[in-house]
Amino acid sequence: MRRVSKWTLVRLVAVSVLLSVAYFICFSGLTATSDSVRHFDVHGSTEFHNLLLDTSVADCCDGEPLKMELPASDFETLLDIRDFKFRINQPSCRGEPEVLIIVHSAPRNWEKRMQIRKTWGSDLQGHLLFMLAAVDSPMLQLSLESENDQHHDIVQGSFRDAYRNMTYKHVMSLKWALYFCPGVRYVLKTDDDTFINTPVLIRALTQGRLRCGMKKLLLCRVWSGVAVNRTGDKWMVTQEEFNDNVYPDYCSGTAILYSQDVVYALYRKAQETPHFWVDDVHITGTVAGELNLPQETMESGTLSIRFTHNTVKCDHSLEKDAPSWIRSFLFSKHDLSTSDMAALWSYVKNCAMTP
Ligand SMILES: *[C@@H]1O[C@H](CO)[C@@H](O)[C@H](O)[C@H]1NC(C)=O
Ligand SMILES: *[C@@H]1O[C@H](CO)[C@@H](O)[C@H](O)[C@H]1NC(C)=O
Repeated sequence: MRRVSKWTLVRLVAVSVLLSVAYFICFSGLTATSDSVRHFDVHGSTEFHNLLLDTSVADCCDGEPLKMELPASDFETLLDIRDFKFRINQPSCRGEPEVLIIVHSAPRNWEKRMQIRKTWGSDLQGHLLFMLAAVDSPMLQLSLESENDQHHDIVQGSFRDAYRNMTYKHVMSLKWALYFCPGVRYVLKTDDDTFINTPVLIRALTQGRLRCGMKKLLLCRVWSGVAVNRTGDKWMVTQEEFNDNVYPDYCSGTAILYSQDVVYALYRKAQETPHFWVDDVHITGTVAGELNLPQETMESGTLSIRFTHNTVKCDHSLEKDAPSWIRSFLFSKHDLSTSDMAALWSYVKNCAMTP
């Protein structure tokens, strides 16, 4: 008798636990239903659209191939690091990719890299790489190596992967582009929490003005008059690190499109410019400024996309006079979750490209 009632009790407890789990799932499901219409501003731009539509450059003059002159010691040097190596590396670009896409990624962001491989990084007429740096944990290193054995798309530098080492990573990316993909016309730098509309990007690079292999191109969202952050911890910058109180105009690191001659010029100039760790300010602001290289802006014209339960409603209200593929955006804001990525990919596949 006692035994039976004990088991009854156990069952009762189990059932009530199950019920509350089920209730919790339903309840949070319902909450999600009412809250999950999310609004996104996606940067598209009229300037960018003009760039795509302008076919006024009559001849596709590829011009002179890039002439690089780098000292023999350069390969094993990364700014002031004298014994730089690629711990994990990839063979040189084969064929002629339209673009080399370089994604700055933190070593632990395996899930984000997987989501990019499954969404905008899949089925690409370009070359996609994830840029990482060294890690302290041998376990993590092993898992990065096996991830790379599977996907062959990781480049890992020998300096420590850290927030304040971002400029090293940026210069490493430029270095990789020069040494291993010298013939590529464009390089796109982005982060692992950003969505790149790759079908539109590829069309943009093969049509309009960009198809001719533009030189001196530094295309991005430009930040102007940004005050230096003297408070907080993650982003705090001291007077010694950066003396002025306002940054020069610089590119948001979310997505930067460089022509290969710009990659080379920035790479060279960075060697002799005093180091500053905020990489987008440093490379696309200070170093580009030394070269008198203006950033070309892709601002304005935002396309808002409504997400409902991670399925996307096509919002055509902003799409007016341009051909449909051009009405689309080129890249998202940063800080997307992996489900946002999936939703945007379904938008690109199902809405943005339809005539
Ligand atoms: C940046 O990398 C260098 C070289 O690996 C390392 O000595 C340094 O500690 C790193 N910086 C940070 C903030 O981890
Ligand atoms: C400045 O730092 C604070 C605290 O870290 C942060 O909340 C804020 O967004 C930063 N502002 C800028 C412009 O980076």
